[in-house]
Amino acid sequence: MILTFAHTKGGVGKSTVAWHIAHAMKMIGKVEIVDIDFNQTLHYINMIAGKPFTVHQPRTVAELYELISRTTHDVTLIMDIGGFDSDLNRAAIRHSDHVVIPIAPDKVTEVLGFRTFDAILSELDTVDTKFHILFNNIHASTRNLDKFKENVPGERFTILKSAIRSRKIYYSTMGDGESVFSSIGNVTARKEIEELRDELIGK
Ligand SMILES: Nc1ncnc2c1ncn2[C@@H]1O[C@H](COP(=O)(O)OP(=O)(O)O)[C@@H](O)[C@H]1O
Ligand SMILES: [Mg+2]
Repeated sequence: MILTFAHTKGGVGKSTVAWHIAHAMKMIGKVEIVDIDFNQTLHYINMIAGKPFTVHQPRTVAELYELISRTTHDVTLIMDIGGFDSDLNRAAIRHSDHVVIPIAPDKVTEVLGFRTFDAILSELDTVDTKFHILFNNIHASTRNLDKFKENVPGERFTILKSAIRSRKIYYSTMGDGESVFSSIGNVTARKEIEELRDELIGK
């Protein structure tokens, strides 16, 4: 399975959620990371962490195709895509089984930024790729998520039931090369990430 975190907007939580989900997936199967963001966030975090994952960094569309074709079906590839538009990013999206697009529903700039990405996605001739919106980084005081769903254009996407709240533990663990599943993680965050994993696996 190829599970990709994508959005042309930076700072929405692609790398953060990808990192924790990679750990959650690893608890139940084989996982490799594909970091095609030139900021190399997951490559560096993985180094700090003592390399728990194989991290691939294809630089061209041809290298990406080569990686996908030699990856066996028992491996889940978690791809983290940079916050910009490029041929490589488009190719990665087109070859994904699932594309997760994190958005903070209560931040208007993120909801508007999504329209730009939506326009790009409308140009891609994807066949089997499923697109999911993940409400991420939701402020503690934001309660009713339903009203935000109306702001998100509907046709191409499902809005995931799982949602990730704004929690310090997501970045404090990452900064130490850890995840929410390490001893310094916490139960609530673990549950959020596991629920997201299980929802995606079930789709
Ligand atoms: N659920 C969350 N709770 C708290 N902070 C978050 C959450 N998701 C993302 N962040 C923070 O937001 C910032 C951007 O996240 P990042 O994963 O780097 O975004 P992207 O990869 O989309 O550019 C980081 O400082 C990260 O720690
Ligand atoms: Mg990133």
